[in-house]
Amino acid sequence: MTNHSYLDQLKRPMRDLRISVIDRCNFRCPYCMPSSQYSRKYHFLDKRDWLTFGEITRLVKLFTQLGVYKIRLTGGEPLLRPNLDQLIQMLHSTDGVNDLALTTNASLLYGQAEILKNAGLNRITVSLDSLDNKTFGIMSGEKGILKDVKEGIREAARAGFRSIKLNCVIQKGVNEDSILPIVDYARQHHHIVRFIEYMDVGTCNNWDPNQVMPSKDIVALINEAYRIEPAEANYYGEVAKRYRFKDGKGEVGFISSVTQPFCGSCTRARLSTDGKLYTCLFAKYGADLRTPLREGATDTELLHIIQSVWATRHAQYFEDRHAIRNKGGNTEKVEMFHIGG
Ligand code: GTP
Ligand code: 5AD
Ligand code: SF4
Repeated sequence: MTNHSYLDQLKRPMRDLRISVIDRCNFRCPYCMPSSQYSRKYHFLDKRDWLTFGEITRLVKLFTQLGVYKIRLTGGEPLLRPNLDQLIQMLHSTDGVNDLALTTNASLLYGQAEILKNAGLNRITVSLDSLDNKTFGIMSGEKGILKDVKEGIREAARAGFRSIKLNCVIQKGVNEDSILPIVDYARQHHHIVRFIEYMDVGTCNNWDPNQVMPSKDIVALINEAYRIEPAEANYYGEVAKRYRFKDGKGEVGFISSVTQPFCGSCTRARLSTDGKLYTCLFAKYGADLRTPLREGATDTELLHIIQSVWATRHAQYFEDRHAIRNKGGNTEKVEMFHIGG
């Protein structure tokens, strides 16, 4: 079956599959996995609950038949999943996968970047919230070592990854002083930094709207230091609004989920480590694909499940959030580390 026109209830196609390969992380970023709630006692998934590489690859083949061409591996921290390069190799040789990317905190990238490149990984995005040791410590829940992350990024560049992206979540009162130093660093090293508005994702980050720094304020701040101007999107549904530096030295992006929602063109599906299919970052439930997989469902049966989940999708959390929050909020949201960023 090759039909690339499966649309959801809002006529959005499925293009992008984000796969969380592990729910564990070695950081405890307060906006995602605060250490107060995720201590040693927290029960992460058992290994037998993880989709195997064979199961993931089989599902990806089916997703490509429904229009997906872009795969992003996430976590938790995906580099904690043993032998990730083998999965990359398997996905790289899967027909229909045109773009294979990884989102990582880069703390374990040093020593692995070349292996990942050789396995067929196309792109790397690194979460980097500050270049100041103290602030970086706070933003990683005192678990990250900035020097290791920078070394990992350097090695990725040496291994031949181009246009490495740096994702920076800004929390007002915590790391807004990091904006310009990160812009300088990205320009100097030819990376692309994207500033992300702090979101009320998951249930445990104690989200406070006063801590959101609207993208327009970040644009203004950067524009005072370097002149920037809007640039056209690279593709339909691109999450980041791109701006180019007028002096020709690269670009910067803004992901404004809170102040300028982009649900209307959201083409992303998400697969959790234990094989549940989510159609929104803010969903309560995911459709279980692992049980039918392990009970011997045929490809046609699995395709039917995925297709009907997409066909009934109407998720648009950010556009509906005022109504949802007024009704007492969506308190059963899935956690970000189950489905990746
Ligand atoms: P490219 O493929 O390089 O264009 O990257 P991308 O923008 O598709 O993905 P990336 O993983 O870099 O996304 C960056 C961040 O944007 C994520 O970590 C989330 O914080 C946020 N984000 C991504 N997708 C969504 C989404 O569907 N909804 C919301 N609200 N935020 C999202
Ligand atoms: N708000 C915005 N982005 C978040 N991420 C995780 N939690 C949040 C949040 N509350 C994103 C960051 C990080 C990626 C893994 O997930 O971009 O880099
Ligand atoms: Fe997509 Fe949900 Fe994010 Fe909206 S809130 S952009 S529908 S994932």
